[in-house]
Amino acid sequence: MISNSETNPLHSSPNGPTQPTGDLSVDQYLEQLHADFDPVYSMLMDYQCAVMEVETKFNILNNRLSIQGEHNPIESVKSRVKALDSIIRKLEKLNLPITVESVQENLMDVAGVRVICSFIDDIYRLEECFLAQEDVTLVTRKDYIKNPKPSGYRSLHLIVKTPVYTENGKKEMFVEVQMRTIAMDFWASLEHKLRYKKNLNPQTAESLAKELEACAEESAKLDEKMLRIRHRIAGEAIDG
Ligand code: GTP
Ligand code: MG
Repeated sequence: MISNSETNPLHSSPNGPTQPTGDLSVDQYLEQLHADFDPVYSMLMDYQCAVMEVETKFNILNNRLSIQGEHNPIESVKSRVKALDSIIRKLEKLNLPITVESVQENLMDVAGVRVICSFIDDIYRLEECFLAQEDVTLVTRKDYIKNPKPSGYRSLHLIVKTPVYTENGKKEMFVEVQMRTIAMDFWASLEHKLRYKKNLNPQTAESLAKELEACAEESAKLDEKMLRIRHRIAGEAIDG
């Protein structure tokens, strides 16, 4: 399907696979469908496996670290494989070939795992443990917690490579990991709504963006305050 073939059904039939016609038996039609779609299903499955591998790594770390500390560092883990539509649109936007190989070489956010923590220091502790694993290779790191985006967006973004083991052997897959606190996640989901809200009058949009930026500042202060309180509680627990 996403192949170099001229018969790519996404292009030839945007409304879905064509029906078998008089000159094609059902067997031939199915054979054609499999030839077109199997590489794409297989690719999406590889990303799904990569997501599961990374999710498992974080779930294990969550359990291990909770033995040592007095709390679970992870509040929740959410993940997704980018929808095929979004994959194709992104390739088109970047002027890249619409092929399975092109997805695997160029797109690093098809597999996405979001790790939500209660406290900022848990994020960095988990990052350290995750990156120390020998089958996790760091590709890029963007710390939007220390350097927030102008919008106010805060999160730690890692692109890593990690292997998945398939029936055809080992494949190294890119996975995007976003790590943030509950407060950062709450903010990002609200801001996301504004970002994708169409037909908003420009003045309203500007004023909402300013208000959200201020919210991000307050929310970051709250994260810091909560962390200080946690440290004090931990200190007193040791002292007392
Ligand atoms: P993409 O092409 O969107 O993947 O951008 P990028 O490769 O420059 O990566 P970046 O680190 O800027 O952002 C990747 C992802 O982080 C996005 O797809 C969003 O999920 C999230 N993100 C980044 N900036 C913002 C923001 O300002 N607001 C919200 N709500 N999410 C953001
Ligand atoms: Mg992205």
